[in-house]
Amino acid sequence: MSLAHDQLAAHKGAAPNDLEAFWLPFTANRAFKKNPRMITGAKDMHYIAADGRKVMDGAAGLWCCNAGHNRDPIVAAIRAQAGELDYAPAFQFGHPKAFALAARIAALAPGDLDHVFFANSGSEAVDTALKIALAYWNIQGKGSRTRLIGRERGYHGVGFGGISVGGIVNNRKFFGSLLAGADHLPHTYSREQQAFSRGEPEWGAHLADDLERIVALHDASTIAAVIVEPMAGSTGVLAPPKGYLRRLREICDKHGILLVFDEVITGFGRLGFAFAAERYGVVPDMITFAKGVNSGTVPMGGVVVRKGIYEAFMKGPEHVIELFHGYTYSAHPLACAAGLAALDVYRDEGLFERARQLEGAWADAIHSLKGLPNVLDIRTIGIVGAVDLAPKPDAVGKRAYEAMDVAFREHDLMIRITGDTIALSPPLILREDDIGEIADKLAKVIKAVA
Ligand SMILES: Cc1ncc(COP(=O)(O)O)c(C=O)c1O
Repeated sequence: MSLAHDQLAAHKGAAPNDLEAFWLPFTANRAFKKNPRMITGAKDMHYIAADGRKVMDGAAGLWCCNAGHNRDPIVAAIRAQAGELDYAPAFQFGHPKAFALAARIAALAPGDLDHVFFANSGSEAVDTALKIALAYWNIQGKGSRTRLIGRERGYHGVGFGGISVGGIVNNRKFFGSLLAGADHLPHTYSREQQAFSRGEPEWGAHLADDLERIVALHDASTIAAVIVEPMAGSTGVLAPPKGYLRRLREICDKHGILLVFDEVITGFGRLGFAFAAERYGVVPDMITFAKGVNSGTVPMGGVVVRKGIYEAFMKGPEHVIELFHGYTYSAHPLACAAGLAALDVYRDEGLFERARQLEGAWADAIHSLKGLPNVLDIRTIGIVGAVDLAPKPDAVGKRAYEAMDVAFREHDLMIRITGDTIALSPPLILREDDIGEIADKLAKVIKAVA
């Protein structure tokens, strides 16, 4: 005989404020549960903390709420969709908004990237892109092209594919031998050469040439794809050196290697364009996206692929599935409705252009923090910023952790941290006075953890 749910809950001592059961992702759980940073609401540029304070969102949640929070048109679209069609399978069936959203995303993508495969997160988007690359070569009789090349300090989510091509040590070292056949380009950061750069650093394009070394080592006939973030976000905001991405494209072309841009952060306006590919004038073979596609409101990710990749699969008997891949929630109706509404907001409010126009004021404000205690470097690009703080002796990551905590509790500001780097990426609806407020608050935070 099973206990009724509420009896069971009472039995286990679950109270509404019991924090034990939830194992928080990428979080110091014990410290959090002793003194939680609880969020109960949001509107536009702000979160509402559990104690009622308005907290400036300096991170667009997790780089995702590009249109700001709880925007009426997006909320209304999700509500209406939930009442009309809650779920429809995307395997062998379809619903109209999936096709409409795919067409809208394809129209924003550069060149002939004109087909969209939907997933539910950035991690799934990356695994999907890697699998498409492998299958693409396989069906063309080039099944020896199996190697996947990522980059040191790259972040491509947490699936086994993503951590294999990723280059963040802690995300890899606990998880065994990962995918076979992954190799890595060098990362593009040198404090010596690039400190306090605004936008793309002058130094570093030559680092793309390392792909030639990898090709010489393995032979191009064994390499399926190269995947990089145009701007490496989660490792601490590394803008691509001038000319770097173009050079990577050239080398991939020379050796027939597919090039994937992971635009999970850079997509949908973060660098002032629909995709970073447009900012850099470089057309990859696939673009992964997530986060900003529906301003972070409903889980969604996906891959935009070039026409030729899609068409390579469209062969054989027409009743046969062309790609054995997909997710129960691929193109979920709520995510699609939210996506269409978010793309309308981006377009109607000109948010990508706005990001471009504000880039200079943003860079001025964030770079004004130079000279504050422990500030080793500052980088800005689009509406993104990073401040590297000197680690505390023998406690790497503690200074930035304290900065995040103090910012939230005492200065009503939400920031992201990675190691001892503070990362900023506010919603793109921000105004000049919001920029000033973020910089002022951050200055106080940096002084507080000196
Ligand atoms: C470039 C990049 N790829 C993939 C991911 C993973 O996305 P998700 O957390 O939605 O799986 C992220 C998340 O930050 C990302 O920045």
